[in-house]
Parts: sequence; structure tokens; C-alpha cells
Amino acid sequence: MDYNNKLVLAPMVRVGTLPFRLLAAEYGADITYGEEIIDHKFVKCERRINESLGSIDYVEKGTENVVFRTCNEERNRVVFQIGTSDAVRALTAAQIVCKDVAAIDINMGCPKAFSISGGMGAALLTKPDLIHDILTTLKRNLDIPVTCKIRLLKTPQDTVELARRIEKTGVSALAVHGRKVTDRPRDPAKWSEISDVVAALSIPVIANGDVIEYEDFQRIKLATGASSVMVARGALWNASIFSPNGKLPWEDLRKEYVRKSILWDNDIKGTKFTLREIMGHYMSLEKSDGKALTKAESLADLAELYGEMKYYRVVKGTAYC
Ligand SMILES: Cc1cc2nc3c(=O)[nH]c(=O)nc-3n(C[C@H](O)[C@H](O)[C@H](O)COP(=O)(O)O)c2cc1C
Repeated sequence: MDYNNKLVLAPMVRVGTLPFRLLAAEYGADITYGEEIIDHKFVKCERRINESLGSIDYVEKGTENVVFRTCNEERNRVVFQIGTSDAVRALTAAQIVCKDVAAIDINMGCPKAFSISGGMGAALLTKPDLIHDILTTLKRNLDIPVTCKIRLLKTPQDTVELARRIEKTGVSALAVHGRKVTDRPRDPAKWSEISDVVAALSIPVIANGDVIEYEDFQRIKLATGASSVMVARGALWNASIFSPNGKLPWEDLRKEYVRKSILWDNDIKGTKFTLREIMGHYMSLEKSDGKALTKAESLADLAELYGEMKYYRVVKGTAYC
């Protein structure tokens, strides 16, 4: 996979499932990351072809719980992100899925207590030997690109030193979220510290943080010199951010997301979470729209709510002739 001049949909837990990835790609995302999936969970999954949907499902054995759903259409752009604290387990997880995805990424930035206490996410940033072990193990044993996503360390020098060690493992690219572990999402991303990493490395760097408008893709590239740009919240709030033709009204994107969720039979909880994240950006969820969303219990309820019942019936094969 080529990591130059790419617009990248960032990994987002519960959001980055197949419908949202396809939506972002439709508007111009070149590379689409899936949500972080923990290796412990994924090693218990089996691959199943879902004939009725035309998807490839990874299902927790002994259950009907779909942990990862993908399809051939996104085979060359979907990145499977793993949460891990162990090289062998990460490799086992990656080997299960590697034929169906374009690349494997390791999450080294998540600051949540669940990740840190399990030695995953941002906990890895303080363990360069373990990082080396995980990345070289994956590199040696996989035929597809391996990358990782980090946050900034305490000083620019520390970040650059770690980035250099990561580059030596042979990864294909490095994504840098321009915030420190202790920063909150409202704190401005430090693009200048991303540029320090770009200057020190020869592999492509993917710059991430505070890209909200289409014009920001160019701004962050100019400010950092990064090869590619990754966007999370800007895409969540309006997936048409990737389009050079200007953003569509967010309500249109909400409708499209609901349609794609119906088409791909997306998990209702994840669908509602994503809709709540989108709508919460534009309105108080205490208002009637938010309350109606909270009440919805199924994709059919969402179809009803957003005027997509006809589409729902066609997809489910229950349309009246
Ligand atoms: C809802 C949500 C879920 C996220 N989940 C992940 C994740 O699974 N893995 C990851 O590396 N980062 C995750 N992040 C962080 C984003 O990928 C990104 O690094 C961060 O939001 C900064 O980019 P932004 O300023 O464009 O939002 C998540 C962010 C959001 C808003």
C-alpha cells in the first residue's frame, strides 16, 4: 500500500465499522481504518462468509457476535487496528485476518484505563523494547504492510527518539496523533511536534489531529510536511469532509449512514453510538431528536425515525410490489 498523499479515516471505536468506512470512502477517503480490536478477543474469532450480505465476518466462536465485518470492495484500503501488549498474540490475531485487509496497525495511543491497565495503547509508549518486539514479529511474518499509531511523548526529543526506533523495525508508515497522553480532545493538536517526527524519518508519516475542514488537509500537510493526513472527529461529524466539492448537510450524511447500516446489518448499539456522536456535535441530545434516538431498539426503528422505511423494506426483501 502506498502511504503518500492519502486521505485517511482514523480508527474510531464503535464508529469505524463497515458502513462508516464505506461512507467515508464514497466521499474520498483513500485508506480507512477499522476500530481498534483487542487481540484477546480476536484470537477467539473464526472467519465466515456471509452469503446473504456479501460480507466476510469474523465471529466469536460459539456465539453470533460479529467482531469484524468487511467486504471485498474495501480489501485494498481497510486497515485492521489491533490493541495488544504481546507480540505473539498480536501476530496470531493478525494472521487470522491478514488475507482480507490491506494492512495491520498497532494502537499505541489509546489513553483509556482499560487499555493502559492491560499494557496496551498508550502504555506501549513507555516500552520501546516491547514495541520493537511486536512490530518486528509482525513484519517478519506478514506479507502486508505493518504500521502503528502513536501519540506525542513528553518532549519533542522523546517523540523523535521513539519514532526513530519504530522506523528501524521496518514499518511501512507511522501515524502520529499530535497530542500527549494527558491531553484532552479539546486541547489543540501540536502540529509542530508532528513536523519534528517528519523531519527525522524517511518513512511516510501520517499526521493526525484537528483536521475539521477539507482545507485542513492541505494546512496540516504544509505545516508538518507529512505524507498523508488522518482525520477522526472531522469525519465522524461529517463524512463528506473528504470531498473536494464541499461538505453536504450533516443530516444527509446521517441518513446515508443509516441506510448503509441497514444494508450491512450493522450492530444496533454501534449504530446508535455513532448517531449519538454525530448528533451530539450539532444539538443537545436532551431535545426530542436525541430522545427518539435513545428510544430506538432496532435498525427498523432507526429507518422509521429517519424516513428510510421504504429502503429498509427493499433491503430486507419485504417490499410490497
Ligand atoms: C469516537 C472515537 C473513537 C476512537 N477510537 C480510536 C481507536 O479505536 N484507535 C485509535 O488509535 N484511536 C482512536 N481514537 C482517536 C482518533 O483516531 C484520533 O487519533 C483522535 O481523535 C485525534 O484526531 P482528530 O483530532 O481528527 O479527532 C478515537 C477517537 C474518537 C473520537
